[in-house]
Amino acid sequence: MTALPTPRLVDRFGRIGRDLRVSVTDRCNLRCSYCMPAEGLDWLPKPEMLTDDEIVRLVRVMVGLGITGVRLTGGEPLLRRSLVSLVERIAALPHAPSIAMTTNGIGLDRLAAPLARAGLTRVNVSLDTIDPVHFNGFTRRDRFSDVVAGLKAAADAGLTPVKVNAVAMRGVNDRDVADLLRWCLDRGYELRFIEQMPLDAQHAWDRSLMVSQTEILDRLRERFTITPVESRGSAPAELFLVDGGPATVGVIASVTAPFCARCDRVRLTADGQLRNCLFARREVDLRGPLRAGASDAEIADLVIAEMALKAPGHGIDRPDFEQPERPMSAIGG
Ligand code: 5AD
Ligand code: SF4
Repeated sequence: MTALPTPRLVDRFGRIGRDLRVSVTDRCNLRCSYCMPAEGLDWLPKPEMLTDDEIVRLVRVMVGLGITGVRLTGGEPLLRRSLVSLVERIAALPHAPSIAMTTNGIGLDRLAAPLARAGLTRVNVSLDTIDPVHFNGFTRRDRFSDVVAGLKAAADAGLTPVKVNAVAMRGVNDRDVADLLRWCLDRGYELRFIEQMPLDAQHAWDRSLMVSQTEILDRLRERFTITPVESRGSAPAELFLVDGGPATVGVIASVTAPFCARCDRVRLTADGQLRNCLFARREVDLRGPLRAGASDAEIADLVIAEMALKAPGHGIDRPDFEQPERPMSAIGG
């Protein structure tokens, strides 16, 4: 095996891009209110989406620039029919990156085992409540039991530790957080709360409705003893011991305590646009050059140049903050 590629995705602030988020579809079978409207969105037409060959090639080029981990996202990644073979092909690349996935869990009951065999190692499943009535309300779909089955299949397939991502919304599920933690602890799932970010297609985000890290911890403390874990490392989630440990709960305070200064992420949208940040105001088109016959070196130069321009932070709290035009489901979590 040749030496590991030298990291080339370096920005003006010394951050190094190592974690590539690949959105494999913008479609979804849920309609979470913090993400998209009830009627869904105008999905990308198929010809605009990257093919498997194109995704594998871009991942290969970016691994050559120092990417060591790939996370497949959506929309809902399990809706891409070729997903298992895509994972297999990424896992077969030289210096293969670790492969993880963020999913809503629907369909995972069937796909967890084949995905694990293909080379997927970890999943984050989004689940914001264990109250089925609340779940049906804000996802606008009656799929709670599918998610529960998906989580179990992920654990059975060895996609461990299984992580659960939850967004707390005021007046919607903010009173459910301790129940959700109890439920995850009982099943060995690692729960992480994410502060709600202004990434909804409806542009309805309101800071006063966002449930902050402090509030989440206060609510958990009504039922559990919660103490900070000392070393945070480079992960965005701040970890807390539950009832003295060893179990933990995480909070990603993306709004009140952003981790931008330690960010190692870069994103590729389902239609082949590179984004150096979730909140970037611009994207760089890789699909066009790819289809026009660009060489690997030319693609690499585009990626390196865009990563160099990565902004120091998202500035959600600044008065001049502008929400990105594309919502989370099109950018990829
Ligand atoms: N703010 C915070 N998290 C969000 N997610 C989707 N939209 C938002 C938002 N506006 C979460 C999903 C999933 C992950 C990709 O991000 O629930 O867990
Ligand atoms: Fe689908 Fe995820 Fe958006 Fe929910 S947050 S609608 S699961 S893409």
